[in-house]
Amino acid sequence: MDAINRLREKLNSTEFKGERVCTIESLAIKGNAVMDYAFFPGGNGLYRGIKAARFPSGGTLILGSNFGSKEGFVDDMGNLLIMDERCGSTWVGMLERLRRSGIEPDECFFTNAWPFLHMASADKSQISEESPKPKKKSSNLDAPIKTWFADKVLMPKCEEFFRDTFREMRPMLILALGLGPAAFLARIWKVELGAWGRFNWDDNDNLESGMAWVEFEKHKAVCVAITHPSMPNSKHRRAPYNTCCGEIELLTSAAKKAGILTKQTGGSRLQQMNLTVALTGASGAVFGREMLRALEADNRVARVHFVASENSLRVIAEELGVSGRNDLLEKLLGAAPTKTVQHTDADIGAAIASGSHPSDGMIILPCSMGTLAAIAHGLANSLIARAADVTLKERRPLILCVRETPFNRIHLRNMTLASEAGAVIFPVIPAFYNHPVDSTEMARQFVFRVLAHIGLPQRDAYVWKADE
Ligand SMILES: Cc1cc2nc3c(=O)[nH]c(=O)nc-3n(C[C@H](O)[C@H](O)[C@H](O)COP(=O)(O)O)c2cc1C
Repeated sequence: MDAINRLREKLNSTEFKGERVCTIESLAIKGNAVMDYAFFPGGNGLYRGIKAARFPSGGTLILGSNFGSKEGFVDDMGNLLIMDERCGSTWVGMLERLRRSGIEPDECFFTNAWPFLHMASADKSQISEESPKPKKKSSNLDAPIKTWFADKVLMPKCEEFFRDTFREMRPMLILALGLGPAAFLARIWKVELGAWGRFNWDDNDNLESGMAWVEFEKHKAVCVAITHPSMPNSKHRRAPYNTCCGEIELLTSAAKKAGILTKQTGGSRLQQMNLTVALTGASGAVFGREMLRALEADNRVARVHFVASENSLRVIAEELGVSGRNDLLEKLLGAAPTKTVQHTDADIGAAIASGSHPSDGMIILPCSMGTLAAIAHGLANSLIARAADVTLKERRPLILCVRETPFNRIHLRNMTLASEAGAVIFPVIPAFYNHPVDSTEMARQFVFRVLAHIGLPQRDAYVWKADE
């Protein structure tokens, strides 16, 4: 029997307390249709279904929490409610993060910390008897997972199942989705991940604290935790990863540590990005120029849509000595563009003005207070403002590299508004600890920080080391 079926048999023959929990297979909903899509142990890659399930050796073990209640899966007549989990926010968000951080979905094995369906009604009665009702349902740690954590029969079985999975797969990377799985892993690796049991995502602003090495039976893996990909808005994203960009930085870094990126990003399997870059009339044209140059040189990027506002031309002339709209791109790049295309700011019919155009995000560098205001108030009256508006409504990354000093209250409020709508405020504040020799080097290093944030870490980026 292969490893997957061994695990499956084991799970199905596990006795849990009476009716309170049941494995997804034991439900036999319409011939196990749920299994074709869901997170049940055994779904390597996506949408493969039970027959094609394969246990990847090495690769990434992705740990969700549970399937929710049986009631959530079937109606009163026993009909399946979730017809295609692929359209759900978990899969959509998951795929985006994997793709952008260079992790190959086919090398992932999806499972849950609590690998069964449960009966919501039974759990409810359990909660009211034994524990105070949570004030508001805000995370996966709320009931019933809280109840399961306290269950001395159930928890060891779930932990054993996880260890069996780990033993069979020997993953290089373990990715925990949301608070429940993070706290689950914290119980297994108390020393390495103990802090995850008390995770306060809002306070956690250290990249390293979201990641740790763990070991079991002489096999080492990197563990990383991110906010659950189904969380729809930036309010739920862990700070400072308040868009998925920061989480991609975290994931990329963990995948690198685990040694799976080097194996997988060399080939053509990594899907390339389409990005939009806008320059507006704030000071700092050299930053915009270096951004365009870095993207031209980056083979993870397929296409760059470039827009310069009318007023940026004045600043570009002033600061870079490059005048006019003709051949602007070529003059900024110092060579003919290979992948960057320019649009005029008045062309509101350009592809990037529509949400249907596939885009991986937009960077405005530098971003003037005028453009910030237009975005914050949804004016969409120029191509730049419209493309930014579309980026926000499609919940794609929008990075606003604002430049002004000092800020008045209107600027500050507009930054808050834009941030609340999902934009990242990434002010043009360069670093000095890398001792830049000129403004170009200063701009380059700043651009590298922006690119790392959007999931394109750069080889030449300066990394601070405390003992240097
Ligand atoms: C040389 C120069 C420097 C400027 N620097 C800034 C700046 O740093 N921040 C800013 O918000 N506006 C700055 N402005 C003003 C903007 O260009 C102006 O508000 C313009 O209307 C912005 O339009 P846009 O956002 O469509 O590009 C500058 C203007 C000039 C001529």
